[in-house]
Amino acid sequence: MTAGYETERELQLPGGQSVRIRRAVPDDAGGVLEYLRRVGGESQNLTFGAEGPGLTESEERDYLARVAEADNSLAILALMNGVIVGGLTFDGGRRPRLRHVGEFGISVAREHAGLGIGRAMIEYMIAWAAQSSVVRKINLKVRVDNAGAIRLYQRMGWVHEGRTTRDTLIDGQFNDCLLMGRAVDPR
Ligand SMILES: CC(C)(COP(=O)(O)OP(=O)(O)OC[C@H]1O[C@@H](n2cnc3c(N)ncnc32)[C@H](O)[C@@H]1OP(=O)(O)O)[C@@H](O)C(=O)NCCC(=O)NCCS
Repeated sequence: MTAGYETERELQLPGGQSVRIRRAVPDDAGGVLEYLRRVGGESQNLTFGAEGPGLTESEERDYLARVAEADNSLAILALMNGVIVGGLTFDGGRRPRLRHVGEFGISVAREHAGLGIGRAMIEYMIAWAAQSSVVRKINLKVRVDNAGAIRLYQRMGWVHEGRTTRDTLIDGQFNDCLLMGRAVDPR
């Protein structure tokens, strides 16, 4: 069971293929971990590498079950022919004073980047947040040198709110991140 919002979206790519965007369910756990290890190995812009996010399949299953039940958290997947090619998670706060706000993370497999899949998942999240009775602010952190992602976030309404230093440590190099935020108004 997912809390309320069950919408699915279909995105047509220029080459004629289609991408399905839907909420993740606990049974996706194995595929999600496999996907995250793949995308982690492809990017220096995520908080994990080829080792993945450091959860066992059973922990990932529990996480997806918790998110599906929560009214202020979201996990969605982008699939091509049933294979995960992108994912987005938003984790809302647990305390009453923090339930309206959370941070999201997003990735798209390199092979399928630049085709609008990231934008489509972000649009899904904004629509979900607007119809929720809870979420009113969406934060993110992005490496200062991830220009393509920053441009995409700005175009979608995020504004620069701060900067954090030594945010990730990759191959002996510290990386600074921008803090960006976007208000969400109820629909
Ligand atoms: C950042 C990321 C999530 C963006 O997802 P994406 O699917 O590549 O993004 P989109 O295709 O929706 O938009 C990105 C660009 O493609 C362009 N684009 C959108 N739809 C398009 C289409 N149909 N055809 C061609 N280009 C398109 C956008 O205009 C945008 O252009 P820009 O480079 O000028 O900003 C993805 O590239 C990624 O996972 N990168 C590695 C990990 C990462 O950086 N994650 C974010 C950490 S904060």
